[in-house]
Amino acid sequence: MSTRIPFVGGNWKMNTNLVGGVELAQALVSQLASIESGCEILICPPFPYLQSVGQVLKGRGVLLGAQNCSDEPGGAFTGQVSAAMLADLGVEWVIIGHSECRHGLGESNELIGRKVLQARAEGLKTVVCCGETEEDRHAGRTHEIIENQLRAALVKATFDRSESLVVAYEPVWAIGTGMTPSIDDAENVNRTIRSLLVSLYDSQFASGVRVLYGGSMKPGNAASFIASPEIDGGLIGGASLSTDDFVAICRAVAGASQG
Ligand code: PGA
Repeated sequence: MSTRIPFVGGNWKMNTNLVGGVELAQALVSQLASIESGCEILICPPFPYLQSVGQVLKGRGVLLGAQNCSDEPGGAFTGQVSAAMLADLGVEWVIIGHSECRHGLGESNELIGRKVLQARAEGLKTVVCCGETEEDRHAGRTHEIIENQLRAALVKATFDRSESLVVAYEPVWAIGTGMTPSIDDAENVNRTIRSLLVSLYDSQFASGVRVLYGGSMKPGNAASFIASPEIDGGLIGGASLSTDDFVAICRAVAGASQG
């Protein structure tokens, strides 16, 4: 077990409404209070609900994150949300490079690199996602794809502390499908990610970065993923919309870290 504080992120995606989002946040903070110290917990609601959900989370030990941001500082970019706007709302974290943005919206490796840079310029901490498609996997290209994605995402960015960077390995074919890689496969990819971080930064920095697994993580499988010394937590989609499931995952992750 590493000395890194484990990390669980809940990505609500384009789900909930205002009342439902606030209620979900309220239920989560009341149940998560007891496990705060064993685990860092992040919630990423949709943009329009950031402020209301942020008010619920304030001072309750659960962190507020956004699901994306623009690579531009501001100006005539219809429909975009800048990192500065997020920081202004009290948002501390932003997810960048989620596969639904890479593959669904066509965000390129280079664009993602510029987004990480912009987020850092505004002092946001980043959850940088990477992951191979099923086709890449069958072609034996998983490690190469991950390396290319992360190199482009991180090459220009600087981090004051390794705790400001979280990397989430999320195989595209595992997201929302109920399928997961074997623990060994996920562990191997996470090991590759940490070696890459050593080469991009240095070993001291790399050893403090939390490297997560994401993709159909549920209460039933969270403990087996987190048992790997290479997996420092999870990025949770579907199961983060259920208080019981999300709390159970956070408990499993925090419990593992406390031995
Ligand atoms: P899932 O999504 O947990 O619903 O598979 C994970 C993610 O997209 O981060």
